[in-house]
Order: sequence, then C-alpha cells, then structure tokens
Amino acid sequence: MSFRIVVTRQIAEKALTRLKSIGELRVWDGHTAIPSPQLAKWIEDADACLTMLTDHWNSDLINHAKNLKVLANMAVGFDNIDINAASRRGILVTNTPDVLTEATAELTWALLLALTRRLLSSHQALMEGQWTDWKPDGFLGTELIGKTLGIVGWGRIGQAVARRSQNFGMRAIALGRASDHASPVERYPLEEFLAQADIISLHVPLTPETRHMVSARWFSLIKPDAYLINTSRGAVIDEKALLDALNHTMAGVALDVFTDEPINGLHPLARHPKVLATPHIGSATRETREAMALRAADNLIAGLAGHRPPHLVNTEAWERRQR
Ligand code: DGY
Repeated sequence: MSFRIVVTRQIAEKALTRLKSIGELRVWDGHTAIPSPQLAKWIEDADACLTMLTDHWNSDLINHAKNLKVLANMAVGFDNIDINAASRRGILVTNTPDVLTEATAELTWALLLALTRRLLSSHQALMEGQWTDWKPDGFLGTELIGKTLGIVGWGRIGQAVARRSQNFGMRAIALGRASDHASPVERYPLEEFLAQADIISLHVPLTPETRHMVSARWFSLIKPDAYLINTSRGAVIDEKALLDALNHTMAGVALDVFTDEPINGLHPLARHPKVLATPHIGSATRETREAMALRAADNLIAGLAGHRPPHLVNTEAWERRQR
C-alpha cells in the first residue's frame, strides 16, 4: 500500500528516502514555512504529515485532515499541536527527544559564556574602534567558578546543561521540591532557588502551567545581578515583565526563543543592551537536524505500519486506535 505523506519543509535527504519507500511525498520547498491555507489543502487527503514547530495544528486544521493517522513533529516540543484535538481523532502525535539534547545544552553554554564574558558587546566595541587601550576595568564580565547555576526543568536537556557545569567549578541546583524525584543536585522551592541562583537556565516544555512562569514575581525575587538564559520556549517568560525588569535588575539575558517567532532587530527585547538574542538555534547542528529528521520519519513510518511509534506523545490516541 502506498501512503500519501506531506512533509512541511525540506529535510535531510536520508529521511526523505526512507519516507519515499512507503509512499508518495509532497514536500514544501518554500523559503518560509508552508502557509496555513496551503497546508490545509495538502493534508485534506494525507495519511501522515512530518511537520515543523512552525506549523500550527489547531483543532480546525486537525479536523480538516480527514485521513490523517500520524503527525510526526520534527521537534521535542509539541506546543504547536492541539494534542486533545488530535487524540479525539485518534491521530498519533510523535516528537523527537534525545537527539537534540547535547546540541541544545551546547548552545545554552555558548550563550552562558557569551553573556557572562560580554563576547558580543566587546566584539562590537572593537569593530567600532573603541578598543583604544587595555584598561583594568575594560569589558569586565563575571567569573563562573564558585557560582550557582539554577536549572528550571530537570529533564534531559536541563541535566545535560547541569553536567557541564562541573567542568567550570560551578554548583548546580534545580527548581522543585526536594521530594520531586531523586536528582544529584539540590532542589529548592522558588524563593530559595532564586535567592541562590547566579545564572538561571530554562528547560521546561511550554504547557498551560509553564506559560508566563517567569513572571514579575520572579523578577522581584531574582538576584539583581543574575543572568537568565532561555533555550526552551519564548512564552515560558512573560516578555513584558522581563522588559520592565531589565530596567532595574538582571546583569544580562540570553534568549534563543520568543513568544511570537520570528522576530527581528526591531523587537524591544532584541534591541535591549542587556539582551543577547539568537534565532531559535538550540538544535541547529548538521548532525542533530539530520537525526531529528530521521527520528521523525521513523515515527511516521511506524505509525503508518500500525505499530506504536517509538516517540508517541499521546498514548490516548494509540489506545483509541486499539479499541
Ligand atoms: C525542539 O525540538 O522543540 C526545539 O525547540 C527545536 O530546536
């Protein structure tokens, strides 16, 4: 049987080859994400779709896809998909965990070091001819040894970031109750956590509970010279509260993700002198993007073959299909 498969972006050739072996592909090769009306048209009769975090699968779109059996997201996060709507229709939703853990942890550390050692502002100063001499107080940053790294979200990526802190002589702590589950680092409730963390790094998925989790209250409790790094999802931070806070607290902030992506240099956060902004590149290594595409393809193929996909997000849809 040949399946109809939609792929919403050009992905690694190896993954396309695997998909071609089971069906007929329609691949969006535009320079920007597939427009919603185009996607709606393509998925009308599709059996499966390999989709990106930039495609917004609301209940209307999901209900429009009458034959859809598998929605394979090429991302670990799946906040772009209305999971309940997919489950109601028995559509298997999958994600791509593990393969992007190390790349995202590496980017977090790249941002952390760039921020604390002022890499971007000192490069820019040099380019603008402001390196006139060596000054005892020129371009001073912050040393990491002996500092406390606060991890928000003790999942795979949070743990990979924490592991690397040992090499810098830092102490890692995590946000949460001590009883949450065993972890090699100490856990603290919010007030105690923020009172200790010199650098806070966010690694939670975006859910109704974590939306705007980093709020004005956080900024009132945070150390005034703390740094904040976000490589998870933009809406975990209340961006308005962050903008207000930057005027009176925080040493610096690195943001790889934003509530409404993409942004450009006119965005008030990107323009702020305390902010280092990057365009959602946590998983952007050649190795990882290929591994993500292959993982998404394998999930899709398993689902269409009637097997439980290895990285199924909505077990309720699987159960519905078994009834
Ligand atoms: C993910 O997989 O959710 C990442 O944000 C992609 O970089």
